[in-house]
Amino acid sequence: MGQDIVEDMAAYYVQRAAYYERVYFKPERQVDLRAMEAALPVEFAGRDVLEIACGTGWWTPHAARDATSWLATDLNPETMALARAKALPAGVRFATVDAYRLDAPEAKGPFTAAFAGCWWSHVPLQRLPGWLALLHARLAPGARVVFLDNSYVQTSSTPISRTDAAGNTYQQRTLDDGSEHEVLKNFPTHEQAAAMLGPRAHDLRWQEYTHYWQLSYALR
Ligand SMILES: C[S@@+](CC[C@H](N)C(=O)[O-])C[C@H]1O[C@@H](n2cnc3c(N)ncnc32)[C@H](O)[C@@H]1O
Repeated sequence: MGQDIVEDMAAYYVQRAAYYERVYFKPERQVDLRAMEAALPVEFAGRDVLEIACGTGWWTPHAARDATSWLATDLNPETMALARAKALPAGVRFATVDAYRLDAPEAKGPFTAAFAGCWWSHVPLQRLPGWLALLHARLAPGARVVFLDNSYVQTSSTPISRTDAAGNTYQQRTLDDGSEHEVLKNFPTHEQAAAMLGPRAHDLRWQEYTHYWQLSYALR
């Protein structure tokens, strides 16, 4: 279920890789970005971290600063090539890993924390419970998990073009070559995200920024 949209999304990010980070230079998002970058390291201090869908590694240098080890993963070598070229803390390693399988030897864990930036929003709602269970199976008891993602802001976000029967929302995006892509992008509320996690998460913290949200919790 939702396999085509998941594959389309992966291909879309390959095509967008070279200029993906433009989105991080939108003037109205700068205050949020600086606050989030500053707040991330403490979540992972002293932990062995699995990063899902690292992309071009915008968050990695900040989040990995005080981690013991950090495995940054993505399905696409094209996006990871940009991340690899960055100045990174010494503990950062990379691996090509499909987030929906997490079956690469490097991703077996157990890790004591996990992080994913702008990934939750792209997972079809009907796949989120299964995907969370897969991720949690790679983590040790008590592991910390942090997700951050975009909030919908009318003046800054691409408009939602449709909603499907499962409640997933979509955007129609145009790349620099003129190609059009329908991209699944969900904007959960605090309550919806917490409901997805259920009792397996405790010490749940939801931080609402103007253009982003961040969810952090510990596994039982
Ligand atoms: C919205 S970008 C997020 C990148 C980065 N984490 C950030 O916040 O800037 C989504 C990323 O998911 C990656 N991706 C798509 N499908 C994937 C999959 N099945 N497994 C792992 N990564 C995938 C894409 O290559 C892309 O880098």
